[in-house]
Amino acid sequence: MDGLAIETEWGALLARRGAAPPGRPLAGPLAALFAPLLAPPSAADGCVVVGRLAQTLDGRIATLSGSSQWIGGRGDILHTHRLRALCHAVVVGAGTVRHDDPLLTTRECEGPDPVRVVLDTDRRLGPDRRVFAAGGPPTLLVCAEDAPGPDRLGAAEVVRLPRDPVAGGLLLPALLRFLASRGLPRVFVEGGGVTVSRFLAAGCLDRLHVTVAPVLLGSGIPAFTLPEAARIADGLRFRWTPYALDPDVLFDIALDRARPAVCAV
Ligand SMILES: NC(=O)c1ccc[n+]([C@@H]2O[C@H](COP(=O)([O-])OP(=O)(O)OC[C@H]3O[C@@H](n4cnc5c(N)ncnc54)[C@H](OP(=O)(O)O)[C@@H]3O)[C@@H](O)[C@H]2O)c1
Repeated sequence: MDGLAIETEWGALLARRGAAPPGRPLAGPLAALFAPLLAPPSAADGCVVVGRLAQTLDGRIATLSGSSQWIGGRGDILHTHRLRALCHAVVVGAGTVRHDDPLLTTRECEGPDPVRVVLDTDRRLGPDRRVFAAGGPPTLLVCAEDAPGPDRLGAAEVVRLPRDPVAGGLLLPALLRFLASRGLPRVFVEGGGVTVSRFLAAGCLDRLHVTVAPVLLGSGIPAFTLPEAARIADGLRFRWTPYALDPDVLFDIALDRARPAVCAV
């Protein structure tokens, strides 16, 4: 497919980013991957949630010191920016903001910036991170109801939500209901491993995009961490569709809010 055809197809996908009802089904390689994200939400919280990680062949998303740039190649970076552009909100954990100081804006493709959402239960992050600076897209700093501090962090609005009494951290179903109430129903969980794993454990992911790069680290920060499984049969098994993101492979997984058996309460 040539560049112009891809651009046209991307434009058609972007045109459906808003709340308008879907028109004619889209065809093409980008639509196969992204159109499921534009479908109306099926969960009662009103959100469509896609998680994403780029990992090494041995399941690491960063070195132990937190260096992750770049595990995936150019194709994976473009894919990540396309997810930002199609989604209303991009969610990251405090660990990613601490290590990477990301901007979380859409720069590698045409499309709007998402609202940036940082999960930091106990408000350990300071205002010096770029995502909290004035002049960028809006940022929400989400913390626990009982976390002390003012209602702003730099330019970010502070949002308080209940803690999850079982899993720890914040109650993710409450976060999704809140984002839907703010008109941000399409949610991209960009990382890191702890954050995507918590969404998975809570049964809060409609879709999972995992890029596997041809790299072996043998150590590092893990992609997914869940409670211990006693048997292989206890693992979450699914169908996947692979896409070549030369030199990497992207796996598109329809989780449909499945909750791993080891996480059932
Ligand atoms: N390869 C990739 O795709 C990729 C993507 C993103 C980041 N990274 C790398 O991954 C590393 C960071 O990942 P990580 O797994 O260590 O951490 P992380 O997921 O970025 O952040 C974890 C922290 O975020 C907060 N958090 C996450 N989920 C939460 C929830 N449901 N409720 C409340 N708080 C929540 C918690 O902070 P508190 O403990 O303070 O409560 C938690 O400890 C960095 O080195 C970064 O470079 C890689």
